[in-house]
Amino acid sequence: MQQYLNPNCNLMSIKISPIDKSRISTVDFDKLDFGRTFSDHMFEMIWQDGQWQRPKIIPYGPISFTPALQSLHYGQSVFEGMKAYYADEETIHLFRPEDHHQRLNNSSKRICVPETDYNTFINGIEELLRLDADWVPRKRGQALYIRPIAFASEEYLAAKASDNYHFYIITSPVAAYYKEGFNPVSLTTADGYVRAVKGGTGEAKTAGNYAASFLPARQAVEKGYTQVLWLDAIEKKYVEEVGTMNIFFLIDGTLVTPELSGSVLNGITRRSVIELAKDQGIPLEERRITIDEVFEAGKSGKLEEVFGSGTAAVISPVRLIHHNGKKLEIGDGSVGPLAKKMFDTITGIQYGEIEDTFGWIHPVKVKDEARVE
Ligand code: COI
Repeated sequence: MQQYLNPNCNLMSIKISPIDKSRISTVDFDKLDFGRTFSDHMFEMIWQDGQWQRPKIIPYGPISFTPALQSLHYGQSVFEGMKAYYADEETIHLFRPEDHHQRLNNSSKRICVPETDYNTFINGIEELLRLDADWVPRKRGQALYIRPIAFASEEYLAAKASDNYHFYIITSPVAAYYKEGFNPVSLTTADGYVRAVKGGTGEAKTAGNYAASFLPARQAVEKGYTQVLWLDAIEKKYVEEVGTMNIFFLIDGTLVTPELSGSVLNGITRRSVIELAKDQGIPLEERRITIDEVFEAGKSGKLEEVFGSGTAAVISPVRLIHHNGKKLEIGDGSVGPLAKKMFDTITGIQYGEIEDTFGWIHPVKVKDEARVE
């Protein structure tokens, strides 16, 4: 395999150019919308001459590029989504950063973006958190969303892997991803569209996967559903994922989630739900599950709960699934006890209220001038 890592990268300190004046006083932390507000600083690292150059932290703001930027034309772009939470006045918790970094590198490999090393990644995030500690929300239900993104940045219209890349880490104080918050959402399968096929890029977090889902997602919303429930692309009967979430079904006491088949995103929250279920002795199956089996379980009264999992959404209970003109209502439409338990446990660990016996938390000590409300 091509050696992408700059052997000097670990040794390169981050060049920090802090802002002159913070924008934080313009932000209403009681009215946070997901992904619309950005903190003062961002991490930037450029790949040129076959290696990553010295990383920088600079003021957050627009970057200027040519319209011939390769990633704009051919979608060579990968990203991650992770979150940070205040555990106490001096400590911010990062949730499973090594797993996110590993997945970023896996996504990068799939579309020929150079990989990064973990030390550079985690040092960059830690520095950002220390500089922008005030931007990490203090309220339960809110978090600092961390969005690493790497994209092709050569000025070249040839349809080939780029020779230049830009890697940024931007951060955004957020509240709930869905307008429903933790209230149950509704899903519909998509008529005539597929999300991903085995051997394609479905398992990778690439920009193009999301672009391809926008038209069916818009149609789902126009019909009154929150999101699309994707089925497999070949037989169009196996449940795969929800596009911004993985999916779980509690059937007759067993938690079932679609297996990672190559076209399903390898979710970090999915992994956490599986580890929690195993820890709590809940029977768990990662396997293929058809939409018909889900409807049958609903009809026979064995479908106890359905919920999605994702970094942005955390745990999102599902109250209704629409497929082929039929509607399946799940339970009485309220949040199920297992979804609630998973939500409470995962967020409890994230906010430092429940002991992390799994090694998921990476604590970052920040200076004590952090904002106190
Ligand atoms: C996440 O859960 O972090 C995601 O990347 C989903 C995103 C499209 C908001």
